[in-house]
Amino acid sequence: RSVSLRPGRATSLWSYQSRVLKGDPASVQALPDSYLGPILRLRRGQKVRIDFINRLDQPSTVHWHGLHVPDTMDGHPRFAIGPGELYRYEFEVRNRAGTYWYHPHPHGHTGEQVYFGLAGLLLVSDEEEQALPLPRGQYDLPIVIQDRSFDDGNQLRYLSGTGPTARGDASGAPSAPGNTMGGRGMMGGMMSRGAMMSGGMGDMMTRMMGFLGDTILVNGRPESLIEVATHPYRLRILNGSNSRIYKLAWQDGRPLTVIGTDGGLLERPVHKDYVMLAPAERVELWADFSKDDLGTQLTMMSLAFEGAMGRMMDMMGGSFMGGAMGGSSLAAGVRFPIFTVKVARKANGSLELPDRLSAISWPRLQDAVNRAKPRTFRITMAQMQWGFNGRSFEMTAVAPNEVVKLRTTEVWEFANDSGMMTMAHAIHVHDQQFQVPERRHGMGNNRVRDGYVDQGWKDTVLVMPGDRVKLLMRFADYPGLYLYHCHMLEHEDLGLMRNYRIE
Ligand code: C2O
Ligand code: CU
Repeated sequence: RSVSLRPGRATSLWSYQSRVLKGDPASVQALPDSYLGPILRLRRGQKVRIDFINRLDQPSTVHWHGLHVPDTMDGHPRFAIGPGELYRYEFEVRNRAGTYWYHPHPHGHTGEQVYFGLAGLLLVSDEEEQALPLPRGQYDLPIVIQDRSFDDGNQLRYLSGTGPTARGDASGAPSAPGNTMGGRGMMGGMMSRGAMMSGGMGDMMTRMMGFLGDTILVNGRPESLIEVATHPYRLRILNGSNSRIYKLAWQDGRPLTVIGTDGGLLERPVHKDYVMLAPAERVELWADFSKDDLGTQLTMMSLAFEGAMGRMMDMMGGSFMGGAMGGSSLAAGVRFPIFTVKVARKANGSLELPDRLSAISWPRLQDAVNRAKPRTFRITMAQMQWGFNGRSFEMTAVAPNEVVKLRTTEVWEFANDSGMMTMAHAIHVHDQQFQVPERRHGMGNNRVRDGYVDQGWKDTVLVMPGDRVKLLMRFADYPGLYLYHCHMLEHEDLGLMRNYRIE
């Protein structure tokens, strides 16, 4: 699919296109000028059937991120289908109301397929949420944030030889200028933008560290101005980026009012000066513009923070990220604007922020069968491959410490200290919404600590360098083989993913 994203030539992308064969046509909402997949609107308890037809020239699957579904419906890479094939997904929506999403999950190509356009939102509603006076309709705004880089011909730059324009192109490489890597010195080679985006060592470094683009897209568009009315809004923000972490804050310093996380509404709203949002995480904000004057503009920033690259910064001599990711690139942790809302019209009526949002029955730490000795997963790097406890992804393999019992509650601990290669990761566990009962901070990270929203249900959690984070979860309903992995998609594709089996 071609979408006009910048003046001049249109950008070639991959895109989910769909139509409703049976049921409510409003359950699929296409976004007209966006490459993003349609917004799927589902109700808790609803039974869904989705036929996925793969028109790419490589294998793919669809993962319903955050949903609790049987393992054959979860989009595991072992169920990838080839070009022209069909996979029928059928499941009952058992999750709470919330902001979920869907994206591909084939072995080794998830980063590529998401980057070139394959992702969409999946919004679940339920009775508890319906009964609340929350902003609806035009006041319920999805905001998907992604970073991309464009070449001079308006095509997306990623690893060499990837994307819709890569194949059939005689040179075998995307149309990036300065595509020569050759045998240049390692540091010199890594520091140049052309090299970073071309083959060899540049690609290897991007795979290891994660891709960072220099252009922020919102809902699949480069325009960053959103017109709003004098009314409260529900902003459903998804970090749909491959590897970039955002530190969200309003530019004028007003606090963020958080009402939801990955797995739906919080018990009560929480006020934050800023919120950290790692790849795949969602946060829902109550943003009230009813007291703002017409014409007011308010920008959502990503504030500066340290530590995303951990010790890698020292190793690479500090200039690494700025240099290697290109002179015009946005380094990890720099300050930049994401989008701006402009108060453009008067609204009728208003809403009060409820002080009670949801009644939640939490699992308790004392219910965990392994509370005395949590299962520990250490993030490791060996032979240029990421891994958990030294093991990288294998299609169907499960290690002894990766087997859990159905109908039990467990604590898992993720430890992020892989020596010189320690950097931030976004840990995601399939089939689960978990709690974060404990974080131990390792390397400082003082400028991110107040930005975690650990009060709610989560399926993805930011683990900063040196940190140890505990997850509390219950394995219910479905036995089977599921994934846990880093949601920085280059890390995932480079092995930071494993199976676990519920039996
Ligand atoms: Cu959103 Cu296994 O991924
Ligand atoms: Cu990672």
